[in-house]
Amino acid sequence: MSDALLFTPIQVGHSRLNNRVVMAPMTRSRAGTGDAATPLNATYYAQRATAGLIISEASQVSQQGQGYAWTPGIYNDAQVAGWKTVVDAVHSKGGHMALQLWHVGRISHPLLQPGGADPVAPSAIQAKGQCFVIQPDGTPANVPTAMPRALETKELSGIVDDYVRGARNAMAAGFDFVEVHAANGYLLNQFLSPNSNQRTDAYGGSLENRARFVLEVIDAIIAVVGSDKVGVRLSPQGVFNDIDDPESTAMALYLAKAFTQRNLAFLHIAEPDWAGGAPLSQAFRLQLREAFGGTLITCGGYNAITAEALLGANLVDMVAFGRPFIANPDLVRRLRENAPLNEPDPNSFYGGAEAGYTDYPALAITQGD
Ligand code: PHB
Repeated sequence: MSDALLFTPIQVGHSRLNNRVVMAPMTRSRAGTGDAATPLNATYYAQRATAGLIISEASQVSQQGQGYAWTPGIYNDAQVAGWKTVVDAVHSKGGHMALQLWHVGRISHPLLQPGGADPVAPSAIQAKGQCFVIQPDGTPANVPTAMPRALETKELSGIVDDYVRGARNAMAAGFDFVEVHAANGYLLNQFLSPNSNQRTDAYGGSLENRARFVLEVIDAIIAVVGSDKVGVRLSPQGVFNDIDDPESTAMALYLAKAFTQRNLAFLHIAEPDWAGGAPLSQAFRLQLREAFGGTLITCGGYNAITAEALLGANLVDMVAFGRPFIANPDLVRRLRENAPLNEPDPNSFYGGAEAGYTDYPALAITQGD
């Protein structure tokens, strides 16, 4: 695969990336005190810095935006300092990194919320899903998500401000990009989907109205960091976290055109297969390609051959890999050399320390490297 497109450089926004392999955002639940990134997190990401672009695990823009214990935040100075050590380590290895901005909306529980409040959502509709909490007796547990409170129209600008603070903080930490997480059933996706958004104000009802909040968040972020540093993640046909949206492909195309008008650096598609949704059709892939003028990234169950086929057909510009990056810090080299991959251990995906995180072996250095 050494002459493959996958390993050729690409200009994205203001950055020249070394190759077209993206490390997908993945929750690993190993943040430190105060939900700040730690030196261990820096080691993990730096081990994977040969990816053309690393997208960080989802990082809450406020405590209200948190749905799982031990996920990192991007809303205070200690969290900026923690992330700065991560980005510096990735940059020192020649890599590039985006920070994924996250608000979970209804995928949460009072045990994670400020003052034990109810989680917030577009509408007071409980999701069938789980979040991860520390119980009052100190033990961690997966629990059903709680009934959320519907956000008042006048509260929405405060949430936009939280995203903007997150984007500013990400730039202060040195990230090359921010990725706005509008996928996988979290707050922004809850606004997009009619089964979680039954609002009667300007943010609910028609497709345009349901898209409004996402675009307001994006516009506010662009105003402070510039469109060439902003990407978005969408999950058309996704069903994770109880999303059921018969118009999700039309919505993705509508948004892709709106993102093109705004000159967004990249659009990142989380394909439905990982969570059980129907696969994307070839026709939709073509429409998406046509609708979005920036760098198009896709993320599904790809390997070097299927990724290369998609690049060769000019359907996408970059391909993101998730679980293979957990177990293979040198995934780019392994793909290029067609080397065997280490298998990830699901028992150590979430929580814990070095085991199953920074101790997966790289290939031995051989002569000529
Ligand atoms: C998760 O923590 O389970 C998670 C986070 C972000 C996603 C998907 C899953 O987009």
